[in-house]
Amino acid sequence: MNEKNLIIFDTTLRDGEQSPGASMDIDEKIKIALALEELNVDIIEAGFPIASNGDFKAVNEIANQIKNSSVCALARALEKDIVKASEALAGAKKPRIHTFIATSPIHMEKKLKMSPEKVKQTAVNAIKLAKTFTSDVEFSPEDAGRSELKFLCEVITAAIDAGAGTINIPDTVGYNLPHQFGSLIQNIISNVENSDKAVFSVHCHNDLGLAVANSLSAVMNGARQVECTINGLGERAGNAALEEIVMTVKTRQDIFNCDTNIKTNKILKCSRLVSGITGFPVQPNKAIVGKNAFAHESGIHQDGVIKSRETYEIMKAEDIGLVSNSLVLGKHSGRNAFKQKIIDLNVMPKNNSDFDKLFYKFKDLADKKHEIFDEDLINLATNAVVTASSIKFNYMNVVTESGRKPHAHIKLEIDGEIKEAKSTGDGAVDAAYNAIEHIIKSKCKLILYSVNNITSGTDAQGEVTVRITKNNSIYNGHGADTDIVKASVLALLNALNKYKQNPNADSSKKRGI
Ligand code: KIV
Ligand code: ZN
Repeated sequence: MNEKNLIIFDTTLRDGEQSPGASMDIDEKIKIALALEELNVDIIEAGFPIASNGDFKAVNEIANQIKNSSVCALARALEKDIVKASEALAGAKKPRIHTFIATSPIHMEKKLKMSPEKVKQTAVNAIKLAKTFTSDVEFSPEDAGRSELKFLCEVITAAIDAGAGTINIPDTVGYNLPHQFGSLIQNIISNVENSDKAVFSVHCHNDLGLAVANSLSAVMNGARQVECTINGLGERAGNAALEEIVMTVKTRQDIFNCDTNIKTNKILKCSRLVSGITGFPVQPNKAIVGKNAFAHESGIHQDGVIKSRETYEIMKAEDIGLVSNSLVLGKHSGRNAFKQKIIDLNVMPKNNSDFDKLFYKFKDLADKKHEIFDEDLINLATNAVVTASSIKFNYMNVVTESGRKPHAHIKLEIDGEIKEAKSTGDGAVDAAYNAIEHIIKSKCKLILYSVNNITSGTDAQGEVTVRITKNNSIYNGHGADTDIVKASVLALLNALNKYKQNPNADSSKKRGI
């Protein structure tokens, strides 16, 4: 490994997907994996194949499609998990198996009910088995952040001897402080006699809001891989945010003796994609990717930036893929101007037919909205709905009036035939959704409804994400329109189309960790 290289291991599709309510379907996972590859992450942790058939299929498909990044599958230190992970990775160009077992006293005693010696032996056996499937094996002593240093070093020494090329130190419960976690990494590297034979990695959770600080402290103390997620998605309070790790290292080259391979100008696109798919909006003041991250409100700041940008800016907005916040195109803009703009925004589709579809969507939007901003275009390009639809929107009339229950009249085209229903509801969206259910009779349950405005202003596009469930399967739907009731209807129809196509999809998670 190049000493100057900090390896970026993205776990948005595994730990990120463990966020309560963030389940993604297989097409969405593939879309994110392709965006991560474009971002040039070194390793994509694609899932936990033993957890469910849905996870297995997603890892398998991602392994088949990804060419440049390594694709990693998670496995407990159990034979059945490791065999399943290896099967899921069968088509991968660069497969990695990531196996783990807990090493903290509380996890060994209460959860695993295993002696420390048994834990060490189980780890060694798992790594040896994984090595029979791939040369690239990563081992994590789970809850390392609360493990005893002496035992941790013993397990790590044995793991490296067994063939683990990467040793990942997780702060599983986000308990450590930056100085403490940094010394833990330094102590491990200096006490483990064969530490020169492995790359040391960290995986920090954000329970105390310290995941990024802890990861960076570890890097300053010898860690050469960071596990992180887009927008900091992840179990409970999440993981270290990829964009914050990458931009800190890039911005503070005076401190860090390493840099990453990340194409930083793709960061914003990935952030929007993950936020759109999960329906988890990014808070406006979120570092790097929040809507306000590069906005200067105070007069003094604006004056300073006009005189010299560096007075109040430590990074360039272009470096994360934000071209400008200005009005760009309108309904009279032609193909060439449109093409140039989406190239500048780094959201150019890979083939001509996708470009054509995007251009028509832009024209549609331009008919409804005078001012089209960069954010609108990024959203059109990253969240363009591609599901084939047997249920199509045809007509809607939704009325809200003081003193009356909101009511909706919806017409849908189903396999070429127009069907219609009228209903009331507690609000405009509820009325429209009830009318749709009268027509479709899906009996799916709505488990997430999230609205996000793409730009500011009352004519902004509303982006709606819904998640529906039936028989343990989940279906996500997305819709965007300047009318948020219409966006809501489109999002539900998108999810219902996925349900119709695959009523028994297995996207459920049997939690294995
Ligand atoms: O947080 C954790 O410990 C994990 C491991 C599986 C690496 O996610
Ligand atoms: Zn984790």
